[in-house]
Amino acid sequence: MQIAPSILTADFCELGKVMDEVISEGINWIHLDVMDGNWVVNKTITFGPALIKSIRQRVGPEVFVDCHLMVANAEDNWEQYVDAGVDLVIFHVEAVENISLLISNLHSRGCQAGIVLNPSTPSSAVLPYLSELDLVLVMSVVPGKGGQSFMPEMELKIREFRTAIDSQILVGGRSTKLMIDGGIKYHNAALVKSWGIDVAVVGSGLINNNATIKENLIKINSMLSD
Ligand code: DX5
Ligand code: ZN
Repeated sequence: MQIAPSILTADFCELGKVMDEVISEGINWIHLDVMDGNWVVNKTITFGPALIKSIRQRVGPEVFVDCHLMVANAEDNWEQYVDAGVDLVIFHVEAVENISLLISNLHSRGCQAGIVLNPSTPSSAVLPYLSELDLVLVMSVVPGKGGQSFMPEMELKIREFRTAIDSQILVGGRSTKLMIDGGIKYHNAALVKSWGIDVAVVGSGLINNNATIKENLIKINSMLSD
């Protein structure tokens, strides 16, 4: 299982150093949480394409960069994120009207397409699009901020996606990745791996004031090693 750091709990003045540190620890996937002050329940604003462009330049072309759009108008402004250099745009199924069109627009720009669902949204909202998707992201917190508690009741939904993706791969279909986001730390990393997660977003479990990124990563990896 791959780890994708979320930078929401980082000191934004130190982002360059944080990027250097995670890369030097062998991480090659960065997860960028975009909130527009409108779509998430707590109305948070995080950052947008300008910062993402700087991060892309800092990490270089070898690191995979995704953006998780928690915005009201992904259908109108998705291209700004492609222009900023992300490899994958993940949009909320609850926030987009014409889902197939957005997926094909992203693909036509050479960008991967992913869908994310809130904890209360059933898998049936996303399963019809699975064959077109490069990634499905299951939220294990209500999106809006880092450092919230993990929702173990997402297991069933994750297992539904794992089964559907495995069946799709078996018949030669797309190898859609399965990601989880919210409350993942060293103590539940092995659990979500056992559910069939390919990529786990880790924010406060990796970037916090209690330990260095290196120390946190050693702890997480020790739980994943067998
Ligand atoms: C929540 C974001 C997450 C979050 C992860 O709205 O999508 O990426 O910041 O942070 P932790 O790991 O602290 O829950
Ligand atoms: Zn996220």
